[in-house]
Amino acid sequence: MNDAVLAGKTILVTGAGGGIGSEICREVARLGARLVMTDVVTKAEAEAADLAATFMPLDVTRADDWERVAGRVERECGALHGLVNSAGMAGVVAFLLSDAARFVNGVEIPVDDGFTAKAQ
Ligand SMILES: NC(=O)c1ccc[n+]([C@@H]2O[C@H](COP(=O)([O-])OP(=O)(O)OC[C@H]3O[C@@H](n4cnc5c(N)ncnc54)[C@H](O)[C@@H]3O)[C@@H](O)[C@H]2O)c1
Repeated sequence: MNDAVLAGKTILVTGAGGGIGSEICREVARLGARLVMTDVVTKAEAEAADLAATFMPLDVTRADDWERVAGRVERECGALHGLVNSAGMAGVVAFLLSDAARFVNGVEIPVDDGFTAKAQ
């Protein structure tokens, strides 16, 4: 298989600092794409440097964040060819040990229209 099947393509990954997101990023970089790594936290920043990727802070629940990132991708990379949504909240907490903020976060993150995410 041609290892550079994504050469010339720009791929944006959300939740890039997470377990699944960081693995996807390594694979996307290996396949030759121009990689944009995003997360609500900056732990992916160091890995972005290792992968010759660009890190951009992005909270997927915020429309203004999406607009900022989309504008920056367009300016710096041109067209966006692929979007991998891996942002999310993993982990199970017993209901009685949870709180309202955790619940609201859990329903805000699912992506409902392929680009922005908001409360269901
Ligand atoms: N790990 C599993 O076995 C598994 C199985 C099925 C589904 N999932 C789902 O896949 C997704 C990724 O799983 P994971 O194991 O990599 O989780 P993870 O917790 O390791 O990574 C999730 C990443 O999403 C980021 N994130 C959280 N809220 C965000 C927001 N509002 N905007 C942008 N980024 C945000 C976190 O900072 C983190 O880096 C989660 O939604 C999880 O529920 C995971």
